[in-house]
Amino acid sequence: MKFSNTLPSPSPEDLGRAYKASERPFRLYVHVPFCRKRCGYCNFNTFTSYSLAPGFDRSTYPSLLEKEMEKAKKWQEEYKIPLKPASSVFFGGGTPTLLSPGQLSQILEAVRRTWGIEEGAEISVEANPDSVEGKELFELKKAGFTRVSFGIQSWEPRILKVLDRTHSPEAAWRAVRKARKAGLSCSADLIYGSPSEKRKEWIKTVRFTSALGLDHVSCYALSIYPRTKMGRQLEKGEIRQESDSSQAADYEIADSLLSRRGYKWYEVSNWAREGKECLHNLGYWKNDDWLGLGPGAHSHFSNLRFWDFSRPGAWAGTLQEGLLPWEGEILSDREMKEEEIFLGLRLRSGLDLEKLQKQAGAKIQNVPGPSLYGLAVLKGGVLFPTRRGRLLNDFLIRSVMDRFLG
Ligand SMILES: C[S@@+](CC[C@H](N)C(=O)[O-])C[C@H]1O[C@@H](n2cnc3c(N)ncnc32)[C@H](O)[C@@H]1O
Ligand code: SF4
Repeated sequence: MKFSNTLPSPSPEDLGRAYKASERPFRLYVHVPFCRKRCGYCNFNTFTSYSLAPGFDRSTYPSLLEKEMEKAKKWQEEYKIPLKPASSVFFGGGTPTLLSPGQLSQILEAVRRTWGIEEGAEISVEANPDSVEGKELFELKKAGFTRVSFGIQSWEPRILKVLDRTHSPEAAWRAVRKARKAGLSCSADLIYGSPSEKRKEWIKTVRFTSALGLDHVSCYALSIYPRTKMGRQLEKGEIRQESDSSQAADYEIADSLLSRRGYKWYEVSNWAREGKECLHNLGYWKNDDWLGLGPGAHSHFSNLRFWDFSRPGAWAGTLQEGLLPWEGEILSDREMKEEEIFLGLRLRSGLDLEKLQKQAGAKIQNVPGPSLYGLAVLKGGVLFPTRRGRLLNDFLIRSVMDRFLG
């Protein structure tokens, strides 16, 4: 069932009948759609100008978010979607640290006022290494932030240039040092398979990252999207995309080097020290409930999905008219099962086939022997992806879906 534009539609009664209440934790995502410069590969909903629409600029953004929070809470009450304190909060972007610590705290306080935040909850913020100073990191810690995730991407100046990053390796190193000094748990995002990246450059990036003593590392294969600067460069033949086999080799190198340094993979692209997994992101893969705020943010309450208008003018304009800038859909049972398979097979904790069988009438005995082409192993009713299964994750997911859902 789809619904669009300005809620309420469908009626609270219809939605109440379709919505399946869940006992899962509630999480909150705040999207900050500002960046200093757009990186050549980026297709996130982010903008480089200070002002994005009438009444919507960096200085007014916190109050627009407060408006959205107020309306979202009323909407939850009207639609009888239980209000719970947030188990985690994540500020992502864009570059959230282009807002001042005061503005970020103002938004966090509004979340506290609206839903409450659980004692000891994980509160993360994404940052570009050159967008934040030591003093600001201390202020963020004081305001309740517990974790910062830096977009480091590479330690090689040449590759940072290829990616159009504004920071230098030295700035990244200083940012990590200052964040740790401020008492924040630190994570690094890395990208492999950048055009012309040599294997030794990637090895250097992973080695250096793993020696920094961070709590968490994410490694992403570069995706080149058509309507980005890199997409156009690829089209004109100015750059070459790395082959799948080369990206697979990069992944295996990262997995081996990070494991040797005490990082355990817990999701296909994420490694952490024991107990330092990102609980907010784990919540996405475990199908928790979450509300996203800001242009283009997605929300997920059990079988109900909705998303904010991504165009800043439409988003702010609708809020200013007193309406929620959302549209969405209610997933069918089959779509919910597909999602469960897709998410479970990305995780170290695996896909609970026994549970799925109970819910779906799927047949565990359909798994040939103890394995699925060496991509996953079945133990105690749970299907665990192997390293090969992580590398060929899309194929594994498709095979399991075909087998269980037909
Ligand atoms: C939402 S971005 C925001 C973080 C911050 N703005 C930054 O770039 O430093 C989160 C991460 O997604 C990854 N990412 C973004 N676009 C990507 C792409 N096209 N391919 C692979 N990884 C990408 C980058 O590692 C980036 O750090
Ligand atoms: S800084 Fe991050 S969000 Fe902004 S353009 Fe670059 S990758 Fe995208």
